[in-house]
Amino acid sequence: MAVKAPWLGFLLLVSLWGLSTPALLLRRLREHIQKFQESSSLHPGFGLGHGPGAVPKQGWLEQPLDPFNASDRRTFLQRYWVNDQHRTGQDVPVFLHIGGEGSLGPGSVMAGHPAELAPAWGALVISLEHRFYGLSMPAGDLDLALLRYLSSRHALADVAYARQALSSLLNVSSSSPWICFGGSYAGSLATWARLKFPHLVFAAVASSAPLSAVVDFSAYNQVVARSLTQAAIGGSLECLAATSTAFKEVERLLRAGRAAQAVLREELGACGSLDRTEDQAELLGALQALVGGTVQYDGQAGAPLSVRQLCGLLLGKWGNRSRSTPYLGLRRAVQIILRSMGQKCLSFSRAETVAQLSNTKPQVSGVGDRQWLYQTCTEFGFYVTCEGLQCPFSQLPALPFQLELCEQVFGLSPASVAQAVAQTNSYYGGQSPGATQVLFVNGDTDPWHVLSVTQDLGPSEPAVLIPSASHCFDMAPVRPSDSPSLRLGRQKIFQQLQGWLKDVKKSQS
Ligand SMILES: *[C@@H]1O[C@H](CO)[C@@H](O)[C@H](O)[C@H]1NC(C)=O
Ligand SMILES: *[C@@H]1O[C@H](CO)[C@@H](O)[C@H](O)[C@H]1NC(C)=O
Ligand SMILES: *[C@@H]1O[C@H](CO)[C@@H](O)[C@H](O)[C@H]1NC(C)=O
Repeated sequence: MAVKAPWLGFLLLVSLWGLSTPALLLRRLREHIQKFQESSSLHPGFGLGHGPGAVPKQGWLEQPLDPFNASDRRTFLQRYWVNDQHRTGQDVPVFLHIGGEGSLGPGSVMAGHPAELAPAWGALVISLEHRFYGLSMPAGDLDLALLRYLSSRHALADVAYARQALSSLLNVSSSSPWICFGGSYAGSLATWARLKFPHLVFAAVASSAPLSAVVDFSAYNQVVARSLTQAAIGGSLECLAATSTAFKEVERLLRAGRAAQAVLREELGACGSLDRTEDQAELLGALQALVGGTVQYDGQAGAPLSVRQLCGLLLGKWGNRSRSTPYLGLRRAVQIILRSMGQKCLSFSRAETVAQLSNTKPQVSGVGDRQWLYQTCTEFGFYVTCEGLQCPFSQLPALPFQLELCEQVFGLSPASVAQAVAQTNSYYGGQSPGATQVLFVNGDTDPWHVLSVTQDLGPSEPAVLIPSASHCFDMAPVRPSDSPSLRLGRQKIFQQLQGWLKDVKKSQS
C-alpha cells in the first residue's frame, strides 16, 4: 500500500499570530502551503523517495485529561505516528517530533526533519499530536471548563507519559536516547521537554521557537520591515518605502468617505462593507498579515508569493511600469495570494471573527483557532502590532483592539493576559531557559527569531542562525533550490547531533 497524500505535518508553519482576522488569513495561507506540499509529495522524486514498503503507522495513546490530579480518571486519545523504516535495533536513538497548535499527519515522520536525519543513526521516528488539536480531542464542547486542560504544561505532561508508554509499546531499550524536535510553538515545547524532564529527554532541536512570551509583539513587524530590505531575498529600501506608501494610500482611501471606501472595497476584493471602524482596522490587519506572511514563509514550497515577487509588484517591475503605483502593486499581490488560496474575497469582519471563535463545537480539521486563541490569552500573548517608525504599515489594529478578543471570547481581561504571559516567562525562563543539550535553530528573515535564542548560551545551548531563511525552513524537506546557507544550517544540526550521540555511545561502552 502506497502512502496516499501524506499530510506533511513537518510544516508547522502556524501563524502564531494573535487571533483575529489577520491570523485567520495566515492560517489559510499555512493550509494552502500544506496542501501544496501534500500534492507535490505524490510526484516521484519529491522529498525522500521512500519506497512502497514505507508506511507510517498511526496509533493512539490513552492519556489522562488531567495529569496533575490522580483522582480525576477522565482520559482522551492522543494520536501518534511511527516510522520505523530506518530503525536498526532496540537501543537506537528515538527522534520524537512534537506537534504544535495544529493537526499532525504522516508527513511528520516521513519527510523533512527529523525523518531525514534518522537514517544516519538508524533512529526510530515518532510524532505526537498536541492535545486539543487535530484528532487528539478530548470529548465534549470546547467550553472554558474543558479548555482548562489545554496548556503547554499539559502538553509537556503528555510528552512525558508518551515517552514512557511508547517505550514499552515499541520495545525501546532503556538506554536509547530520546531527542525532541519541534518547530515554532512546538520548538518551545521541545526545549521545555528537555528543561523539565532531563531524565526522559536526552536533547532537543528547537526550530524557530518563540521562547519568550510577549503581549505586544511589535518586533514582528520590525523584522518584516528589515526583511523587506534584504537584498539576498529580493528586498530593498525602495521596496520597504513602497510598502509604506501603499498602506498610506489604503488609509487615505478609508478616511476619504463612503465613495472612496466603496472603490477601495471593489479594488481590494474585500468581502464586506467598510463602514465600521473595527472592520477597517481588521482590513488593515489583514493586509499586514499578507505582507508579514509573505516574509514569514519566504522561499518555501507552496508560498503564493516570495519577497522578491512582492517587491517586484510593489515597485511596478511587472506589468505596465508607467502606470504602476505601490498601491496597485499591493492590490495585485492581494489578488494573487487570495486566488492561490482559493479565496473569493478578502474577509475582515470583526463580528464574524468573534462569532467563529466563540463557537464551542470542536472543529476536526485545521489549526484549532479557538484553542490557539485560548493559549495566547492564557499563556503567550504574541499580539502583532505596528509601533514605532520602523513599522511600515498602518498603526491599526492596535493592541487594545486585539486584547479585546480575549475578553469577548473568554471573558479574560487584558490584565489577566499580561499576568499569564509574565507567569509563562518565569516558569520557563524566556530566552534564557537554562536547559542543557538544546540546539536552537532560526532563520534571520523570520519575524519570530527575535523571541528565540540566536546566539550560543554556552557550550550546551548552542544556536544556529541561518541567513536569509524564513520560519522553520530547516525542517522542510531538502530541495535542489535550497540556498547554500540553508544547507550549511542543516549540516550544523547534523554535526551537533553527531557530537551529542557520540557521547552516548562512549558512556554506554
Ligand atoms: C481532582 O479530581 C477529582 C475527581 O474528578 C475532583 O473531585 C477534584 O475536584 C479534582 N481536584 C482538583 C484540584 O481539580
Ligand atoms: C520486543 O522485544 C522482544 C525481545 O527482543 C521480542 O521478543 C518482542 O517480539 C518484541 N516486541 C515487539 C512488539 O517488537
Ligand atoms: C501603459 O500605460 C500607459 C498609460 O496609461 C499607456 O499609454 C500604454 O499604452 C500602456 N502600455 C502597455 C504596454 O500597456
